[in-house]
Amino acid sequence: MNYEFILVEPAYHTHIALIRLNRPKELNALNLQLMLEIKHALAEFDANDEVRCIIITGNERAFAAGADIKQMESKTAIDMLKIDQFETWDQIRKTKKPIIAAVSGFCLGGGCELAMTCDMIVASDTAKFGQPEIKLAIMPGAGGTQRLTKAVGKALAMEMVLTGKFISADEAHSAGLINRVVPQELYLDEAVKLAKEIALQSPVAIRLAKESVLKSFDSGLQEGLFFERKNFYMCFASDDQKEGMNAFVEKRKPDFKGK
Ligand code: CAA
Repeated sequence: MNYEFILVEPAYHTHIALIRLNRPKELNALNLQLMLEIKHALAEFDANDEVRCIIITGNERAFAAGADIKQMESKTAIDMLKIDQFETWDQIRKTKKPIIAAVSGFCLGGGCELAMTCDMIVASDTAKFGQPEIKLAIMPGAGGTQRLTKAVGKALAMEMVLTGKFISADEAHSAGLINRVVPQELYLDEAVKLAKEIALQSPVAIRLAKESVLKSFDSGLQEGLFFERKNFYMCFASDDQKEGMNAFVEKRKPDFKGK
């Protein structure tokens, strides 16, 4: 597939792939084609054994300023229903490998929702997070009312969703929305640093662990614990588990192969 709105580097670093949103003039507004391209690139990375961690980023001014308002402006409810754009987002959410959002500048509406669909968020100190849809007389539609509330709690989520106010990277960090805040010139390096730590681990265990953490969002405790336990036992079917434990006993670094 030729990508028009994203740049893709499958081997950005060893075992780390990068997707860069690339509509700078429109502050990376997420049109339908761009979202399909992200979905396609993620599916390719999931199928590529060389890739162990994925970074999605924008540019210094904007991660993404939301879904493309100009593309939605004239749509009817039935148009939106037929397009069913969030089906694409559901596929993105099903990516098996860990995804880090490296965010600088505006991270708004669908942009914030895309970052929250990723597994971790590393931000520049210039990042601004918000769900301003209410100012357009709509509301978040790609998980903003759900994932934001789970991340920051009801009080702040309600305020952000009902007033459209932006919060700074520091506020987002204190509220538990993001993992790290660093000076702007370092945000991508910091995301790579985190990705490298993940890429050193067993891809099999990483996949099972990611799946288990995500399960906690849509299951009760008992069901989640049962799911976790099965994935824990499944780790013992991998060569990596033997390698990890042997390396510990032999006091050396493990070399995980993802098998
Ligand atoms: N959709 C389409 N175009 C957008 C856009 C968006 N979400 N955000 C910015 N742009 C465009 C602007 O129209 C402008 O284009 P032109 O130069 O052709 O006029 C260009 O990007 C630069 O934007 P501004 O001139 O507005 O830049 P600014 O620095 O003055 O303001 C901003 C920046 C505060 C982010 C402002 O652009 C803004 O408020 N954007 C919209 C944010 C928003 O409401 N997002 C939610 C969208 S709805 C949604 O996401 C639904 C969902 O849940 C999936």
